[in-house]
Parts: sequence; structure tokens; C-alpha cells
Amino acid sequence: MRTLEQLWQRGAEFLGCPIAIMGGAMSWVSERHLVAALSNAGAFGVLAASSMSPELLAKEIAATQALTKKPFGVNLILMHPQLEQLVETCLAAKITHVVLAGGIPKSATINRLHEGGAKVIGFAPTLGIGKKLVKMGIDALVIEGTEAGGHIGPVSTSVLAQEVLPNIHDVPVFVAGGIGRGETIVSYLEMGAAGVQLGTRFVCATECIAHPKFKKAFINASAREATASVQYHPDFPVIPVRAIGNKATDEFMRFQKDTVEKVFGGTLSREEGQLAIEHFWAGSLRRAVIEGDVESGSLMAGQSVGMVNSEQSISEILAELTAQAQSYLDQA
Ligand SMILES: Cc1cc2nc3c(=O)[nH]c(=O)nc-3n(C[C@H](O)[C@H](O)[C@H](O)COP(=O)(O)O)c2cc1C
Repeated sequence: MRTLEQLWQRGAEFLGCPIAIMGGAMSWVSERHLVAALSNAGAFGVLAASSMSPELLAKEIAATQALTKKPFGVNLILMHPQLEQLVETCLAAKITHVVLAGGIPKSATINRLHEGGAKVIGFAPTLGIGKKLVKMGIDALVIEGTEAGGHIGPVSTSVLAQEVLPNIHDVPVFVAGGIGRGETIVSYLEMGAAGVQLGTRFVCATECIAHPKFKKAFINASAREATASVQYHPDFPVIPVRAIGNKATDEFMRFQKDTVEKVFGGTLSREEGQLAIEHFWAGSLRRAVIEGDVESGSLMAGQSVGMVNSEQSISEILAELTAQAQSYLDQA
């Protein structure tokens, strides 16, 4: 029988920490305090660079390094207009692991990060893209299923895991989306995962700076309340985001309907209509996380929100997850 340490050894060695659990980067949520708390407790925190400028990211990295001497990663969004400068900011600060999110990275970006001494982690939404990223020299992959919070793909974590884990062995693969308990962590590790990535489960950590109202919404919500945003019209694409339903979710449907009617009525151009739909949620995650506006802000959360029942410290959450994993292994 293999122990938990043996099962996630590859992931732990890759990340440089004893617990192969990555704290998935969450815009506004994954700042210095949560990231340092995760890394100090033995897991792996990841800063969300999100829309930060290179100067702001440099400050946030320095502030995180002041709170922890342990390794942590930085998540960069590929469509950021200053991606190259953000890469240089990470390298100048000696960041060991950079996560590239929101698409397929260019070889030049991966190569530059390697030259600067960083390991690069990418997202594989399909087996084909995973294989392509491995060929491009990516050091590790995250596969994230549709159960996750935030921007999501269409395929469930369980199906992605069955597609990718038996077929990609050259690099460590971390499984994300819908993980709320230790038993599930063990099942993905036994299938060949090197480790896991959790986001939703860490939002109500005592160390997390999210507004008390944002945390309360998580504690009160059940799995079925964390739904994917719905596209009103086939010609006006909406990138699906999973969030707890609120007044803004209903308003978004009405807004799409009104906008589409204006376009077809000739009072708005198609481009203006599409842009208005894309901008509807601008700034809304910040409004909810930082200001506590849980009515008109975005309550991005994964389906595992149903397993978030109280505010707990990061070390308590990690102890709970590892104890569940260990007792599940002991029963086998
Ligand atoms: C509030 C929130 C914000 C998020 N923001 C980001 C982000 O900025 N970049 C990113 O790559 N993933 C983002 N994610 C996804 C997480 O990094 C993580 O992969 C996901 O939460 C894992 O699934 P889980 O929520 O079921 O644990 C976000 C998730 C949440 C809940």
C-alpha cells in the first residue's frame, strides 16, 4: 500500500514543498496573505497577477516574499497586453514557477521563462493540447474541469482526468475543479496525477482577505447554486464563468436580451453590442471580493462551494484534506 507522501511525491518534488496541493490563483483573492499562508503551511500558493501592471506585480511579489521564505508561483493571463514585461518581473524576482493561463502560450514565452530559470506550468483543456504543450517544453500541466470556479471549459474533471492521466507521463499533471475532500485527491493521485489544484476550498480561509459578505455567500451556498453563465443568443458569444447566482446573474440575461434587441433593431452596431456584453462583468469580481457587494458583484465559485461550511485557517483546511486522504488510504 502506498502512502500519501509516495502518491504525490512527484508533484511535491516539482513544486518544492511537502504537500502537492496548489492553491489555484484567484483574481483579487490570491494576494500576498493567502499565497504566503498556503506556502508557509506546506502547500503551494500561487499569486494571481490578473490585470496587474508589472510595477504592481513586482510590489505584490516582494510583499509575498516578505511573508514567506517558501516557494510560491505566479499566474499570468496570456492575453495581458504587457505579458512580456510581467514575465521579466517574475524572473527579476526569482519566481521559481510561472503558471500561464487563458490559452496556449507561445514557445518564445516558455523559452524566455526557462532561460530565466523558472519552471512553466500550462493548462491542458484537451489531451491534444496537453501533448502539444509537452512538445513545446512545458514543465507541468493543470487539467481543470467544468466544476471549477471562474472561467471554465466544457468538460468535467472526471472525464478530462480519464483522457489525460493515462496518456501523459512526461510531465507532472495536476488535477483541478470540484475537489473538496481528501478522498477525491487520493483517487486522482492513484490514477496518475502528480498533485491537485484547489481554489474554492481556500476562499473562506481565515488568512484570505475576501470580504466577510463574500465568504458568507460561499458558506451559505450549495453545489447547485454555483452555475455557469448562460449565453442568450448564438451570435453573441459569452465565455462561461461559474459563479454563485445572484441579482447580477439575472440582470446579465436581461442585459444580453436588451442588447441583442437593440442590435437587431438597428440602434446599436453588432460590434458595440458584443463589446457591451463582454464588458458587463468588468470589475465585478473586485466589487464582490473587496467591497462585499454580493448583489451586483460576481461571486465566482466552483461546485465544491457546497463543501465550504465555515471559516477555517489554511493549516486546518490542509490538515482536514490530508487526514481524509490518509484515512481513505488506510481503509484500502
Ligand atoms: C474567485 C475565483 C477566481 C479565479 N481567478 C482565476 C484567475 O485569475 N486565473 C486562473 O488561472 N484561474 C482562476 N480561477 C480558477 C482557480 O485558479 C482554480 O483552478 C479553480 O478554482 C479550481 O477549481 P475549484 O474552484 O473547484 O477548486 C479562479 C477561481 C475562483 C473561484
